[in-house]
Amino acid sequence: MKGVILVGGSGSRLDPLTRVANKHLLPIYDKPMVYYPIQALVNAGITDIMLVTGGNNAGDFLRLLGNGSEFGLKRLHYTYQDRPAGIAHALGLTRDFAEGDSLLLMLGDNIIEGNLVAARQNFEAQDQGARVMLTRVENPSSYGVVEIEDGRIQTITEKPARPKSNLVQTGIYFYDERVFEIVANLRPSGRGELEITDVNNYYLQEGNLEYDILEGFWADCGESFEMYLESQTLVAEHGANKLDT
Ligand code: G1P
Repeated sequence: MKGVILVGGSGSRLDPLTRVANKHLLPIYDKPMVYYPIQALVNAGITDIMLVTGGNNAGDFLRLLGNGSEFGLKRLHYTYQDRPAGIAHALGLTRDFAEGDSLLLMLGDNIIEGNLVAARQNFEAQDQGARVMLTRVENPSSYGVVEIEDGRIQTITEKPARPKSNLVQTGIYFYDERVFEIVANLRPSGRGELEITDVNNYYLQEGNLEYDILEGFWADCGESFEMYLESQTLVAEHGANKLDT
């Protein structure tokens, strides 16, 4: 399985912290933000990882991470998104790297307390399709909101004004090798981006979208200053990427 971590974007919700620095290099307690998703993938046994960066200061990732030896990796792969065109667009840029294999996509500003070992096993036990990691939040309208009935996902609605539940999709997604064909056929949304929710809805329509609910905390560090601050407290008090949760 390949791993893809998205570390581009303008980080406008954390301006002016992100005016000269890439959001994913900002400190979260004692490490740069990007360390946490890399460790999450490594803990799930994924060692073939591509980072999709963009915007200013993309070279900082090379200086910081090099070949990823700090994580026990032989090498890290990098690619560049030259305009903010959405999460699914960024994923599409990794086609040459990941095509023909399944993949785990993780947004570079997501931090988890636990690990993705069981979720990976559950995904591999699926014949095909996709698997999204879910969690409960207090502000669902900032996210892709998921409605579940009889244990099955019924709908995923991107940032609804009136959310039907407090269960949301995190930025952690498993996909089979068909994902690149699906991305290639997407149309831009109202905000002019290729949306990851449209990819997930494609699998949902097919009846091939499964889920797990994350154990432990999930932090979306880039959502707001409040979440940026809270994620650091969570990491400091509870630790992240634990293998025993
Ligand atoms: C994206 C997805 C959203 C998901 C969120 C998780 O939102 O579109 O469905 O809940 O990531 O972090 P964005 O970060 O683009 O606002």
